Order: sequence, then C-alpha cells, then structure tokens
Amino acid sequence: MTAAEAEAIAEAVRVLRAGGLVALPTETVYGLGADASNAAAVARIFATKGRPADHPLIVHIADASAMDAWAQSIPPLARELARQVWPGPLTLVLRKQPHVDDGLTGGQPTIGLRVPAHPLALAVLRELGGGIAAPSANRFGRVSPTSAQHVRDDLGDAVDYVLDGGPCAIGLESTIVDLSRGDDDAVVLRPGGVGPETLARIAGRPIPLRESSEVRVPGQHASHYAPRARLVAIDPDELDVTLAGLQGESVGSIVAGTTDGAPRWSPDGRGWRVVLDPQRGELAHHLYAVLRELDAKGCTVIVATVPTPQVDGADLASAITDRLRRAAGP
Ligand code: TXA
Ligand code: MG
Repeated sequence: MTAAEAEAIAEAVRVLRAGGLVALPTETVYGLGADASNAAAVARIFATKGRPADHPLIVHIADASAMDAWAQSIPPLARELARQVWPGPLTLVLRKQPHVDDGLTGGQPTIGLRVPAHPLALAVLRELGGGIAAPSANRFGRVSPTSAQHVRDDLGDAVDYVLDGGPCAIGLESTIVDLSRGDDDAVVLRPGGVGPETLARIAGRPIPLRESSEVRVPGQHASHYAPRARLVAIDPDELDVTLAGLQGESVGSIVAGTTDGAPRWSPDGRGWRVVLDPQRGELAHHLYAVLRELDAKGCTVIVATVPTPQVDGADLASAITDRLRRAAGP
C-alpha cells in the first residue's frame, strides 16, 4: 500500500463517518457508498441516484464473519457460497436481523450482503468497522460506472469523495442469489460475475434463475442498464441484415472477435464498429465503457451481438446477455 493510497483510504473513512457519500471501487462496478448505520446518509444515496425508496441496497461487509450482524437464519449453502466466493462478485439475499433499518431494505424482511474483492474497498471497510450501503454509482436506470471518471461524469459534485481504484476488473454487477427462503428455494435474481457453472459446482445442483418476481430487482424497469442510444441485441448471424435495415442512423456496433488486448475501434461509413475479445474477458470488462463512448460519439442506435456460452464461456455470457437484453428493453 502506497502512502497516497493510505491517505485516500483514511479520507474515505472520514467522509463516511461524517455521513458523506463516497464512490468506492469494487471488482464489479463502482458503488455509491454510505455508512449503512447512518439513516440520513443512506437516504442521501436514494436522493442522489434518483432511486425509488422501495429499491433495496446491498450492504458491503469486510468478511463473512460480519454476516451474522446483518442476517439471521443463514442457511448452510449461503455459508458455503460465502466461504468459496467472497471476497467476490456475489450478493447473498438473506433474512435480515430485526434491527436492520427499513431504509436499507426498502421495507423488505431481507438484506443483500456482499464482500467486494478490491483492496481499497476492503481497506475502507476494515477501517470503518461496519457496513457500507452501496448501489452502483450511476443515476437510476443508467449504465453502471466502471471507472472513477464515469462516476464523476454521472454524479459530479453530488458525491463527496471518489476513491479512485482504477478500472473495475470484471465490469458487470455481482450475481445476486436469494437464499432468504432456505437452501431448497435458492434462486438467482441477477446473473453476474459468478456464473451458473460455478454456482452449480458449489451447490451440487443448478440454481434456477427467477425470471420475474414481486421484489424490486433490476429488470422491472424497462430502461435498466440503458445507454441513451436505442440498443438492439441480436445473435451474431443477424448482424448484416440488422445493419442493412438501419439506413439513415448513426450506428455503433459491438461485435465479438480477436483483439490485441484493447477494444478495436474502426469507422464503418455511418458510425463505429467496436470489436471486443471474449477470450480476454473484454466483453464484460469494456461493455459499459463502450456503451458510454458510443453515446458520446452521438450514435442513435447501438447494435450488440449477444455472446454464445459455448464460444465465450458460460460464466460471464449469461450476465452479458442479461444486461444487453435489459438495456434493449421489452
Ligand atoms: O456488483 C454489485 O452488486 C454493485 C457493487 C457496487 O457492489 N452493486 C450494485 O448495486 O449493482 P445496485 O443497487 O445497483 O443493484 C443491486 C440490486 C438492486 O437492484 C436491488 O433491487 C437488489 O440488488 N437487491 C438488493 N437487496 C435486495 C433484497 N434484499 N432483495 C432483493 N433484491 C435486492
Ligand atoms: Mg445499479
């Protein structure tokens, strides 16, 4: 740890203790953090994001031993997932302890918990000694930030301190598994960095994906994870016919291919084509940054090819496909 990092961590903790908002780097996306025990600070998160109050927050904790301070009746599979995956891109939804404030949970009897895998976030959590409530640090419904600059672009002065931890390693939000009704009724609420194969290996069976639910999870809002441009998600073999049908628009297309370690941009007559290499994890890592950049270049429509699990690896493919379909809307 450098002296500059130690000072940045201390500043983040000072701001959190004073009830301020700190943008925190994690391995998934940047979070907009507040001291989870400070109801006024938590309320500021909702105001800053423009987020409906019934939309629960994830509480980030320093390690699995802190689970019991927030949750009760924790089933064995939740303990095992925490043991094998944390710190990592997995959020567990569990029955909350009675003292946990309704402001965090949107009035639900459950609480989402996660130990993030980023050294700066973990250092802040350890020094603070409590939980940090943090949704993604973007305005409600928009693309999540995967760099400190994205946070500044979206939230500006509304955030008191941005802890810059570089670009997010994974680039897509955590997998959310609901275990609040026990191991037998475990369901995935949102696919993410921990894929179906990893979950099945740990659980000894596949954990089903819940397509719709009465609880407030992303996907109930048509514009979730959306760029400003209209997004069209297609299978790779539909690319040519789709582009041919988009006359007179400024088109950004995102396609899978090989690169030499960075997204490959090329003008293609009426817009931009961006090649991302799934073998290098670029589809997840760069997706949100590329959506922002295509917006900034003035594209009116973005055509993105969905990954195929066989080619791109099942673990992240389901999360990428989920985000593209949600950004595309119904
Ligand atoms: O990777 C991530 O999960 C990032 C980083 C910052 O940790 N956080 C994140 O938070 O994506 P957010 O708030 O943008 O998305 C979390 C989703 C919310 O849409 C919320 O509805 C759902 O998790 N969630 C949180 N607590 C829940 C609960 N108790 N029951 C059901 N869903 C819950
Ligand atoms: Mg979000």
